[in-house]
Amino acid sequence: MPEGDAVVRIRDVVKEFGPLRVLDGVGFEVTRGQTVAIVGRSGSGKSTLLRCVAGLETIQAGEIEVCGHPVGRPGSAARAQLRRDVGMVFQSYNLFPHLTVERNITLALTLVKKQSRDEAKKRAADVLGMVGLTDKIGAYPEQLSGGQQQRVAIARSLALQPQVMLFDEVTSALDPELTAEVLGVMEDLARRGMTMITVTHEMGFARRVADLVVFMHKGKVWEIGPTAELFAEPKTAEFRQFVGSEL
Ligand SMILES: Nc1ncnc2c1ncn2[C@@H]1O[C@H](COP(=O)(O)OP(=O)(O)OP(=O)(O)O)[C@@H](O)[C@H]1O
Ligand SMILES: [Mg+2]
Repeated sequence: MPEGDAVVRIRDVVKEFGPLRVLDGVGFEVTRGQTVAIVGRSGSGKSTLLRCVAGLETIQAGEIEVCGHPVGRPGSAARAQLRRDVGMVFQSYNLFPHLTVERNITLALTLVKKQSRDEAKKRAADVLGMVGLTDKIGAYPEQLSGGQQQRVAIARSLALQPQVMLFDEVTSALDPELTAEVLGVMEDLARRGMTMITVTHEMGFARRVADLVVFMHKGKVWEIGPTAELFAEPKTAEFRQFVGSEL
């Protein structure tokens, strides 16, 4: 891929909800294999930015490209292509309660990707292995803990072989032990070279796993840089205060 292998390229993005400017000239790039952590106070625009990258929102100005395809402007984005390239996991898992873990994962593979039942089952077994839930393949969501359900949701997304995974506060509904399980799975993915953008309040995770940290404030990229550098030497009072409050 040209230009430094950028999987996601965000330039001068403006997003408004009516009179409210939620993203105000946001820009950065995510290269292949990078893990980016987006941090910042509530309301700073983190989820909105991820939703824009996933093609779930239209933007008023600027550009977003995922794997070279434009996203977010009316008329842009072959949606089908974007759905192939981007996997997104939210705080709520949205598994189908009446389907087994396996079927939750194979559904999109057989219906959307038109894979054979056997191919899809093999893929489901692979991704369940990746999230450490091989033994739950026949279980129903209600028989799983919150952390396990979230890991199934991650597996379901991985099954589609996205080029980039977006995670929005995926652990914020979980207690500490389950949080650790899910973060462990994400850390594993990062180590395997998955390109990821994660919005997280888990500063320990961000420090340990992220290559690049983006601190958002008032709809802007207030600070950005390699993780160790950024945390070692906050440049702005806002980021210093944020880091202090998250300790
Ligand atoms: N659909 C919408 N309509 C109107 N305003 C919205 C909409 N979605 C988000 N906003 C506003 O945009 C701003 C940014 O919201 P966003 O959800 O992106 O923040 P966030 O950084 O993810 O916060 P949190 O840490 O609480 O999840 C907020 O002021 C929010 O009220
Ligand atoms: Mg949010």
